[in-house]
This record gives sequence, structure tokens and C-alpha cells, in this order.
Amino acid sequence: MTPSAYALLGLTALVAGLVAVLVFAVLRFASAARDLRRHAREGDSERVFVTAALEDALRKLHDQERALTARAESSERLNSEIVSSLTSGLVVVDLKGTIRTLNPAASRLLKLNRADAGHDFRTVLSGATPLAEVIEECLSSARPAVRRSVSLRRPDGTLHLGVTVSPLLDQARTLQGAVCLFSDLTAVMDLEEQVRIKDSLARLGELTAGLAHEFRNGLATIHGYARLLDPAGNPDDQRTYVEAIRAETDSLERVVTNFLNFARPAQLTLAPVQSAQLVERARAEVAGEATARGGDITVRGEFGTLDGDEVLLTQALVNLVRNGVEAAIEAGRPPRVTIEGRVDVPNRALRVRVADNGPGIPEAMRDKVFQPFFTTRSQGTGLGLALVRKIVVSHNGRVVVEEAEGGGAAFTMVLPLTTA
Ligand SMILES: Nc1ncnc2c1ncn2[C@@H]1O[C@H](COP(=O)(O)OP(=O)(O)O)[C@@H](O)[C@H]1O
Ligand SMILES: [Mg+2]
Repeated sequence: MTPSAYALLGLTALVAGLVAVLVFAVLRFASAARDLRRHAREGDSERVFVTAALEDALRKLHDQERALTARAESSERLNSEIVSSLTSGLVVVDLKGTIRTLNPAASRLLKLNRADAGHDFRTVLSGATPLAEVIEECLSSARPAVRRSVSLRRPDGTLHLGVTVSPLLDQARTLQGAVCLFSDLTAVMDLEEQVRIKDSLARLGELTAGLAHEFRNGLATIHGYARLLDPAGNPDDQRTYVEAIRAETDSLERVVTNFLNFARPAQLTLAPVQSAQLVERARAEVAGEATARGGDITVRGEFGTLDGDEVLLTQALVNLVRNGVEAAIEAGRPPRVTIEGRVDVPNRALRVRVADNGPGIPEAMRDKVFQPFFTTRSQGTGLGLALVRKIVVSHNGRVVVEEAEGGGAAFTMVLPLTTA
């Protein structure tokens, strides 16, 4: 072989080698590209899978959250429905004394409004101090105050509440505030009072009627002998004694008769009574005494029908009006007495208020004036108001006294209206 033939062979071999390397490289590249594409496809499906799982989990979480919110809302709704449907008053205060809950019954009983929630209970309950004191006691002692009874004085009578205050504790049993629950016991207390008065009057009647009769017989005998003594046939100095014995037995006789009338068990003749007519009769009976002194007796308001004893009820009203006239006259004023009627539909009661322009009755004396024989008048028997109370209570009513506008006395009889 010639050298040029060798050279050609060598060159051909070199080119062949290069071509082989190139082909190998291209094949490798193609396979790498295929791998890359496959990997990319596999990675995509994994991502899709993870995303779907996440979305699913998120959806479930949302559902749960919605269910929880719905449950929380419904439990809150139930909670507020319970609180507002309670017929008992509910006041919840926190540690600082701020009112957190004030339900409608509490607002109604204490005459507060919803805007009072969020304020300090000591300020809000300034007109109901005895109630505030029980809450304060619970807050400071962290102990419950159970079944207390508190009385709140109101222009329209005394409100009796049964109160329980419990400390509000969290899970760690630390004090967070106080929960005060109370209900109106006025009707119950009034009923108890009526029963008590009826009871004590019945016992008084039994005990004393017999004694009073004996007393009256003795008096009649003394009186009879005194009549036999002729004052004219006696020396002058003894004549006055005879007259004094007669006068004193007369007056004792009146007291005993009054007392027997009072202590005798009430025999009611019940019939429907038009209270407007009854009031007019009572007004007419005392009007002369008032006008004679330059005063008057005014009737206003509305009156209903009662089941009652007309004679006794008229007598009760006359006693009240006459006391008003006498009180004003004693104070040197022309008597002005107002009889005002109000039909209390929700309580099915008639309220008759007799107010005068006399000096009024000092607060400390107001309970005593209804007791038999309590009098501040030289000619008084002290039985007028005792009889009023007896008549009213035997009609299942009650009578209270307070200060009238202008400082006089105001007596209110509350009587049940006819149920028919
Ligand atoms: N309207 C009134 N204003 C002031 N005081 C009154 C009034 N009504 C009654 N009182 C007081 O109550 C007492 C008892 O009254 P009452 O039972 O009617 O007996 P009496 O009129 O015989 O004294 C009276 O003595 C008086 O002190
Ligand atoms: Mg009197």
C-alpha cells in the first residue's frame, strides 16, 4: 500500500470514530430527554394529587367550621331565649360590678331599661338598695346568698322580692362575678298578710267579745244606778260627781259598742257592687263636713264592679274620707279630699285612693294607724282604720298608706274586681 492509501484509511477510521461518538451522544441526549419528560409527567400527577387532598381537607374544615358556627349561634340563641323567657328577674354582674345581663323580667320588676346593662349595678340599682346590697355581699364574700327576701318601697306600694345571688365561677373556680335571680313575692306576701290579719282579728273577736259583753252588762248596771241618783236631790259638791259618772259610763258604753262592732266576725252580704255609686254615696255622706269648712271632696278616675258588701265597703270609704277631712281641719286648713279610682286590668283589681291636704302621717306611725285603739285624737276611738282594714281584708283586698302630693296622707284600698 502506498502512503497515501494509508493516510486515507486512517482518515476514514477517524471519521468513522467521530461519527460513532456523535451517534452515541445523540442517543444519550434523546434518552435523557425522554426521562425528563417522563419525570415531568409523573411530578404533575403527584402535584395534582396533593392539591386535591389539600382542597378536600380545606373543604372539610370549612364544613366543620360552618357546623360549629351554626351550633354556637343556635346555642347562643337558646341561651338568650331562656334568659328573656324567664319570669324571674336575672341580673349578671362581673367582678367590677358592671351589669353583663339584664333580662326583660328584671327590667320590668325594677323599672329599668335595657340601656342600663353595661353600667355599674350600684348606680343602676340605686333605687333598689337592699337588692344591690345582697349582690355586693355575694361579690365580696364569693358565697351564695340564698332565698333572701328584700322589700323595695315604691310609690305604688311595697315590692317584696325573693332573691338568690350565686357567685359566678370559671373552670378554675375563680370568681368572675355574680348571678342574681329574683322573683316578685308581693302577691304571696300580701296573701300571707291578709291571712295573718284575718287570723288575728278572728282570735281578737273570740277572746274579747265575751269580755266586752260582761263589761257592757256591768256598765249598764252602773249607768242604771247613776240614773236613779237625782243630782238635784244631792248636795252641790256631789251633783258633779253623779254627772261625771253618767258621762263616763256613756262614753265607755260607746267605746264598748264600737269595739263589739269591730270585733264581731265580719258577716259579708256579697253582691255585685257598682263602685262608682258606692263612692258617690260615701262622698255625699261626708261632703257637708268638708263644705262647712270651705273645702270639698272631689271624685275622679274610673271605677268598676266588685263582688262585695256594699254597706261595709261604703263604711270603709266614709271612714277614710272623714279621717282626711278631720286631719285637714285639725291642721287649720279647708279640707280638700280627692277620691281617685283606677281599674288595674292586669291584676283584675280596683284601686281607690283617698288623698287629703292634712299634715300627713309620719312614716314611723304608718303601720300603727291600722291597729285597734291607736288614736292621736282626744275624741278618737282608734277603731276607724282598724275597721277599714278589717273590711278590706275580708274582701280579699289590702289597704296601704303613703304620702300624698303636697304632704297629706293618701290611703289606697286595692280590691279584687268581679271575675264574671
Ligand atoms: N288622713 C289622715 N291624716 C293624718 N292622720 C291620720 C289620717 N287618718 C288617720 N290618721 C291617724 O290615725 C289615727 C287612727 O285613725 P282612726 O283609726 O280613724 O281612729 P280615730 O279617727 O278615732 O283616731 C288617727 O288618730 C290619726 O292620728
Ligand atoms: Mg277616724
